[in-house]
This record gives sequence, C-alpha cells and structure tokens, in this order.
Amino acid sequence: MEGKSEYVQEVFTEIADDYDQMNNKMTWGMLKGWQKIVMQKTQLKTGDRGLDVCCGTGEMAFQQREIVGPAGEVIGLDFTQSMLDVANAKLEKLRYKNVSFVQGDAMDLPFEDNSFQAVTNGFALRNVVDIQKTISEMARVTAPGGRVVCIDVSVPKFFLFRWFFNIYYYKIVPIMGHAVDKNKKIGSKFPAYTWLAESLKTLPPQDEIKQMFINAGLDDADYRGVGFGASTIYWGTKR
Ligand SMILES: C[S@@+](CC[C@H](N)C(=O)[O-])C[C@H]1O[C@@H](n2cnc3c(N)ncnc32)[C@H](O)[C@@H]1O
Repeated sequence: MEGKSEYVQEVFTEIADDYDQMNNKMTWGMLKGWQKIVMQKTQLKTGDRGLDVCCGTGEMAFQQREIVGPAGEVIGLDFTQSMLDVANAKLEKLRYKNVSFVQGDAMDLPFEDNSFQAVTNGFALRNVVDIQKTISEMARVTAPGGRVVCIDVSVPKFFLFRWFFNIYYYKIVPIMGHAVDKNKKIGSKFPAYTWLAESLKTLPPQDEIKQMFINAGLDDADYRGVGFGASTIYWGTKR
C-alpha cells in the first residue's frame, strides 16, 4: 500500500482515545490473558531491561514493568504521538519511574545492539511496511540469550472457528468500529476499523513469519495460537 506509514499513523491518531476499550470489547476480554502468555514467553526476570516496539497505549510495556519491578527498566516505542499520549497519561497515574515512552520507527530502532533482555511487539506486524526489517531490528537490540516475542491476529485453522472468525472479524468488527470511526474514510483509504480487519490480509502465514525470525538470527523460533487460533504468539531466542 502506497503511503502506508502515514496512513497507519492517521488511523491510530484517530482511534487512540478509544483504543483500549475497543480492544477489550473486540477480544471479549481475552486480550489480557494472551498478553500474559506473551510475557511468559519473554522469560523476563526482576531487574531486566525490556522494550515494547509499536507499544501503542503502553499495555504490554506496563506488563513488562510488573515483571522487571522497580530495579529493571522498560521502554515503549511507537511512531504515533496520540497513542503515546494515552500511554503517558497512564504512566502518570501509575508513577513508575523506570518506564518511558519514546517516539520512533520500529524499522530503525534508536537503540544500541544487544540492549534488552526481551523485545515484544503486539498486533503491529501487519501495520509495519517491512515485517522482516522490524523483526530483524527487534533481534538486533536484543541481548544474546534474550527473547523476541510478537503477537498478532491470525485466521483459525479449524473450519468452524474459521467460519465464525471470518464473519466476526471482517464484518462485525468494522461495524463495532463505526462507533469510533463513524465509517469515515481516511484519505481515499479504509475507515480505521475496516483497516484493522483488512490489514490481516497483508500478514504472511505463520510459517513465513517464523522463517523471518530465523532469518533475523533467532534460534528455537516457534509459534502457538491463542483464542482458538484467532491470534498467534511468535518467539525466538537471540544467539
Ligand atoms: C494495533 S496497534 C498495537 C498497539 C499495542 N502494541 C497493543 O498491543 O495494543 C499498532 C501500533 O503500531 C504502531 N506502529 C505501526 N507501524 C509502526 C512503525 N513503523 N514504527 C513504530 N510504531 C508503529 C502504531 O502507531 C500503533 O500504535
């Protein structure tokens, strides 16, 4: 898609204030449980340093903070200022001294090599222009022995779940989203919540994403489905 980065920024600028509430509704409250599994896969420990790439409103960064505690450090990075504004408003309430949010590009991370024990990415692989570059950048800034973990939407394999998913995700989610996006096109492109559904069509199959982890120099790359296969968690360990 031409101008994808600018368009994605416009999408998330428009929906930032309602993003958390809508996410919770659309995943029927299952999201927190999936994020917990992501956190287990990071193998983060007290005192570690973690990064959440495409952090949006900061939820996974705060979950990392719960694990690393006051002795660790967590950074969340995103390129949409309105999403970071929501994250920072939550941070102000939580008063964590060792969490910060920075504006930046997932495909060109402003961090030294081997800087973090774990680097996560939630529901953003289908939003970036270059998935391989994003995973490679996440791997670059991960310390040897550390983990890269991503989660994104996927199409269930079992036909009955897939049948239901296709109706829910492509038809009902965009309608639920009209409450926020008013079904208004962004430029000449999809309204925001129609994009959230349509963008899945650009995401490669799980095995291709796993191969991208391997290409990025990550060992033991693997994935597992959650939510009856409606999302998939991918992980790999830096050599
Ligand atoms: C679907 S939201 C996910 C937010 C959060 N990770 C979550 O799990 O709720 C996708 C996020 O990716 C961000 N994003 C997309 N492409 C990006 C890029 N190249 N660099 C940084 N952030 C990006 C968007 O601004 C948006 O906040």
